[in-house]
Amino acid sequence: MKSNKYLSAIQKISELVSKNVDFTELMKNILIILSNEVNMQRGMISIYRRDLQKIIVDVTYGIPKQGEMVFYKVGEGITGKVVETGRPIAIPRIDKEPLFLDRTGARRKIDRSKLAFICVPIKYDNEVVGALSVDRVSEKDDLKFEVSFLETIANIIASKVHSRRIMDENIKLRDAISRHSPVGTIIGNSSSMRHVAELINQVAETDTTILITGETGTGKGLVASEIHQRSRRKNGPFIRVNCGAIPENLIESELFGHEKGSFTGAISTRKGKFEEANRGTIFLDEIGELSLSAQVKLLKVLEDREVTRIGSNKPIKVDVRIIAATNKNLEKEVEKGNFRLDLLYRLNIFPIHLPPLRERGSDIILLADYFVQVLSEKLGKKIKRIDSSAIDLMMSYHWPGNVRELQNCIERAILIAEGDVIYGYHLPPSLQIEGELKQEKTLFTGNFKELVENYEKTLIVNALKKAKGKQSEAAKILGTTKRIIQYKIQKYEIDYKKYAGVTI
Ligand SMILES: Nc1ncnc2c1ncn2[C@@H]1O[C@H](COP(=O)(O)OP(=O)(O)OP(=O)(O)O)[C@@H](O)[C@H]1O
Ligand SMILES: [Mg+2]
Repeated sequence: MKSNKYLSAIQKISELVSKNVDFTELMKNILIILSNEVNMQRGMISIYRRDLQKIIVDVTYGIPKQGEMVFYKVGEGITGKVVETGRPIAIPRIDKEPLFLDRTGARRKIDRSKLAFICVPIKYDNEVVGALSVDRVSEKDDLKFEVSFLETIANIIASKVHSRRIMDENIKLRDAISRHSPVGTIIGNSSSMRHVAELINQVAETDTTILITGETGTGKGLVASEIHQRSRRKNGPFIRVNCGAIPENLIESELFGHEKGSFTGAISTRKGKFEEANRGTIFLDEIGELSLSAQVKLLKVLEDREVTRIGSNKPIKVDVRIIAATNKNLEKEVEKGNFRLDLLYRLNIFPIHLPPLRERGSDIILLADYFVQVLSEKLGKKIKRIDSSAIDLMMSYHWPGNVRELQNCIERAILIAEGDVIYGYHLPPSLQIEGELKQEKTLFTGNFKELVENYEKTLIVNALKKAKGKQSEAAKILGTTKRIIQYKIQKYEIDYKKYAGVTI
């Protein structure tokens, strides 16, 4: 029966995808299965690269490689149209279709009147990430069945294509970072972070006062120093004051300085941070922690641009650029009476808000990749890549500690990884638990046999994790025999060895 062949192709392809193999090899094997099992010759997988605004032909089968990159613009040719509209296109005879470009040149010597062509979008998270296309010999019957079959295949491979795309874009981005800005280390490609970059570019060179807001660990400190580095004051000092860490009775002397003997303990004359920052930038971090009395004095300095040391009555002119940061909502603090409205006005001239990491989409992977690169070098380890099991966990976690938490998480993973790959089980328990909850949600939809099998597989994997990969121990946990566990491990192709180092 015809549909049997298709079912078996789907089965073989899903099996392949669940294994961990190199992307190009995996995709090539899928195209080979399509050709051998269901007679779809000359397959092609293209990736839509947002950074290049082009669709790049990435993996092909039955199409001679010419050594140079083949690509389509969005909207150009059939592949371009499919990516643009997110809808499949099927052409019964390619000789009758002017849109068909044959850019790879594979069909120049073939009788085109006998060829049909199908191209379907590859979608991930409602976004078109690429396209899958095949040729097949024209037959009388219509192509509807083939289209929905190929759409199924596109769904099966979507997450792999998505990860590949991010990886490719990252390489490009990393190049761009190292080429354009040796100090520019703000990593991010999401629209919200691109907006932040735009704001930084607009304001960096001016002397405008800036207020940076955002949850803890979102990069406020990093942005402040980046702005200083890009300003005309970059050769002047960058002085950070942590307003939350200085005791109330010392804050004034810390900011404005004191004369010798002006109070008990003032054994010598001391310059304040404002004077130190002269001709440079002062970064008032955690400004929301400042006491009301200190706020009054700060406001006066911001208005007059001069400071008076404690114990002196001679004001000193200071030339400083002010950047303040807080993870508090200052408007709310004003309402509560903890922050002065007039000071907020003075500071809030050019606000920059840093979004939480969980709202930055695939920036998570971009950052993870970046930290792997930087930290593995620092820690003297060679980590080549992050496995998709780890990527999945990172993408579904809510990151309350934002970029700092991600950075710590990668550092820990690098330290405990035995080989050159970071797997899901190298990530902290908090990520595993959240990931499992999400998995469970998707686990309970489907047909009965699959559900039971999935559940069985989950039970075995959990037992293996607890047993650190030891099969006999896992059998004991589940109250069964080692023989049965071994059989199931084989049946579900569970890589039990990888649980040897798990610590949950
Ligand atoms: N976009 C980014 N690209 C690269 N590194 C980043 C990025 N954002 C943050 N980091 C890194 O993450 C860590 C935390 O960032 P940072 O200290 O600037 O956060 P913060 O918002 O000031 O946090 P807090 O409110 O707790 O002070 C730093 O090591 C910083 O270099
Ligand atoms: Mg900070």
